Amino acid sequence: MDELIYKSRREDFLVQMKKSSVALLFSATQKIRSNDTEFPYRQDSDFYYLTGFKEDNAVLVLVKGEKSAKEILFVQKKDKSLELWTGKRLGVEGVKEHFDVDKVYTSECFEKRLKKILQSKKRVYLDLFSEEKKLLRVRENIQELSHSRTAKYTPIKLYHVREISQKMRAIKTPVEIELIKKALSITKEAHHKVMSMKKAELVEYELQAVYEYEFKKNGAYSDAYTTIIAGGDNGNTLHYINNSSLLHEDDLILIDAGCEYEMYASDITRTIPVSGKFNAAQKEIYELVLKTELKVIDAVKEGVLRSDLQMMARESLCEGMVELGILKGDVKELIKENYDKRYFPHGIGHWIGIDVHDPCPYKDKKGKEIALQAGMVLTVEPGLYLPLDDMDLPEKYRGIAVRIEDDILVTKKGFENLSCEIAKSVAEIEKLYSRT
Ligand code: GLY
Ligand code: MN
Ligand code: MN
Repeated sequence: MDELIYKSRREDFLVQMKKSSVALLFSATQKIRSNDTEFPYRQDSDFYYLTGFKEDNAVLVLVKGEKSAKEILFVQKKDKSLELWTGKRLGVEGVKEHFDVDKVYTSECFEKRLKKILQSKKRVYLDLFSEEKKLLRVRENIQELSHSRTAKYTPIKLYHVREISQKMRAIKTPVEIELIKKALSITKEAHHKVMSMKKAELVEYELQAVYEYEFKKNGAYSDAYTTIIAGGDNGNTLHYINNSSLLHEDDLILIDAGCEYEMYASDITRTIPVSGKFNAAQKEIYELVLKTELKVIDAVKEGVLRSDLQMMARESLCEGMVELGILKGDVKELIKENYDKRYFPHGIGHWIGIDVHDPCPYKDKKGKEIALQAGMVLTVEPGLYLPLDDMDLPEKYRGIAVRIEDDILVTKKGFENLSCEIAKSVAEIEKLYSRT
């Protein structure tokens, strides 16, 4: 993305900061996988949103004065011997050249300047979910300042960075929507590849490998979350990620898989038959979930609440479950007593963006639910989970799990289903398989 985009986000962020305040945003910390080997590095989402900078050991400092504002980036310095092991760094000079911030210094300077930065303004914004060690350093410095009789200010008002960033990230710009669309076009290739493959007697993780390959082959470095490949009854574990069972010819597979493209997520679930063809009972459950999903998507528009969508999904699924003999009784009464939640236990969807579960607000400051607005992107993902060992269920439905999930943009006119090209109807899914 163009550096100008990050610059204008920082400017927006500064406008929303309280007067006489300083914001500290830390890059993500490299996580250890085992002993001295590391997980692949992924930048902190807020830090990336405001800088576009992907290196470790960096700090963004935004300073808001009475009349002026300043942006400072602290970055790891160039170091030939370390770069030999872990790769090239931009260093101070490289960052100055590519990033439009007022000042660039090394990370070591941050340690030395922290106290000075903190006492320069009355208020401090901090990501309270940053690594403990980093927060502790800030706290120690504030504590030391509180003893000082000469410090200009002792910041005693702390604010959460996310108070500002979450709201900014809620409304996606056209550039961000394009990135989500690109992620989805890659995710589509992977889902279609797997739909068209022979799958019986493969281990679930073999399909996971197909997703990883297709993602990378098409330019997405990573998945946006650990892929769920859940054959048969495994689909009744909502976030099943073991992916280590054999796939059986007569089962469905619930696949929740989406790539991350240039830091933007996609999140798609499809449920498909191993054999390529749904049996009668599987089809009944599938069609009910699909009908529900389409109905909920259709209701997405400005002003609607997520809780309205949730209730719509519950009513549709509950009605269907009564018709199929899964639940008995009056739909309204069943919902009132939460009986439907036994088989549809999760939410209808969530915000999506740089994080697959984008941490944008669901409630306003007064605790009131935030209504949908143009530019928001959310998932719609109803499901029915019918465990194998649930003896209250008609036998033919035991062990079936179906979730269907798409990524939906709220528009001025209503909605755009960003993932509408990913096969979803029974006919489309069966046709893709028959092409092999
Ligand atoms: N892939 C996780 C979710 O659907 O929320
Ligand atoms: Mn989701
Ligand atoms: Mn998902």
